[in-house]
Amino acid sequence: MKIIEVQDQVQGGRAAFEILADKVKRGAQVLGLATGSSPIALYQEMVRSDLDLSQLVSVNLDEYAGLSPKDPQSYHIFMQTHLFQYKSFKTSYLPDGKADDLTQACKDYDRILAEHPIDLQVLGLGRNGHIGFNEPGTPFESKTHVVDLAASTIAANARFFENEAAVPRRAVSVGLASIMVAKTILLIAYGAEKAEALAAALAGPVTESLPASILQRHPDLYVIADRAALAVYRNRG
Ligand code: GLP
Repeated sequence: MKIIEVQDQVQGGRAAFEILADKVKRGAQVLGLATGSSPIALYQEMVRSDLDLSQLVSVNLDEYAGLSPKDPQSYHIFMQTHLFQYKSFKTSYLPDGKADDLTQACKDYDRILAEHPIDLQVLGLGRNGHIGFNEPGTPFESKTHVVDLAASTIAANARFFENEAAVPRRAVSVGLASIMVAKTILLIAYGAEKAEALAAALAGPVTESLPASILQRHPDLYVIADRAALAVYRNRG
């Protein structure tokens, strides 16, 4: 595990971009992408750069159930807004949250993942230790699945919606087993509200009640975080 402490999100975006650009130059073909505020600075660096992504495939982690790809709150639109409208990939996949049969949609997504092994997976971190939308209690061996969002996740994500009642209650998420097969993982976390979860993820017991703790078992994990997010981890250390 390599921890890169940064001053702020701008520096974090640059550090994350350096790692990503290096992997692309060394032949990475498939990028696993995430939503949330944490990867935005990385996406801005990608947009500003002349890195050619047109021959690469991107596979996103998750999508809200019930939102169409055109819904402004969907992760489809999030990715369009922050990255895809400026930089297009050969193909970009996101789970279909609007599928009539979500179970089938999960199986279809697993096939996509099997066909496109992820070279570099970008991850944010939920305040409750989730990665993707893998909430506490998700089995480590999980593949793509339908998730009942935790009350704390609904509350945390309400800031992106008109109010808490408007936040979808379910989502489709790539599973923990699928995240772990990525060759390299880049976990990004900023701010004091992530400090407990980050400390537990990096140095707590490896347990399904803190999904991100599975990352301790990954052979090539980079962590990009600011001082506030690393505070509890450092104090325990
Ligand atoms: C959502 C996403 C996660 C993301 C998390 C943290 O729940 N599904 O993939 O990591 O939010 O978001 P933020 O980076 O805005 O704190």
